[in-house]
Amino acid sequence: MLRALCCSVSLLACSFVPLAAQDKPKIKEVPPTPTSPASGKEMFRSYCAPCHGMMAKGDGPAAPALKKQPTDLTQLAAKNGGKFPAIKVYAQIEGDSMTPAHGAKGMPIWGDVFRSMTHNEGEIKMRINNLTRYVESLQVK
Ligand code: HEC
Repeated sequence: MLRALCCSVSLLACSFVPLAAQDKPKIKEVPPTPTSPASGKEMFRSYCAPCHGMMAKGDGPAAPALKKQPTDLTQLAAKNGGKFPAIKVYAQIEGDSMTPAHGAKGMPIWGDVFRSMTHNEGEIKMRINNLTRYVESLQVK
């Protein structure tokens, strides 16, 4: 009960919903949709696919509206000599809290977004961990 209330009053955070039927999509910020922290796939589709694309190729519907193009996340291992850089990816998803809101680089600071959804640090780590593992599962061989 308390938890539900927390979610409903949480600050606007960074899920991005491109508005359809325009040449250049605009990014609208909406509160993050609740997802299971246990499912990297569900979180990826809700939070990451708008920019990075369903298959993580960097071609999400919001990509044309961004100044900086989202990375093709399927190439991270290939670009790192065949080894998926899990620790780095975890840190990139969590984001650097020293950078301004949403990150200077156009990528939302997901650590802060997840912190707006729960105070449970274990759950936040689980979210970022499962997202990292899901991205790892999408690597091209
Ligand atoms: C608003 C659009 C947007 C959303 C939503 C978004 N990203 Fe990104 N992401 C970017 C952009 C733009 C970059 C490139 C930043 C750069 O090159 O400096 C990036 C870069 C990254 C990188 C760094 C890759 C590298 O080594 O260059 C990772 C990892 C990543 N995103 C994962 C995610 C995950 C996981 C999610 C969902 C939880 C997500 N992103 C959601 C826009 C987004």
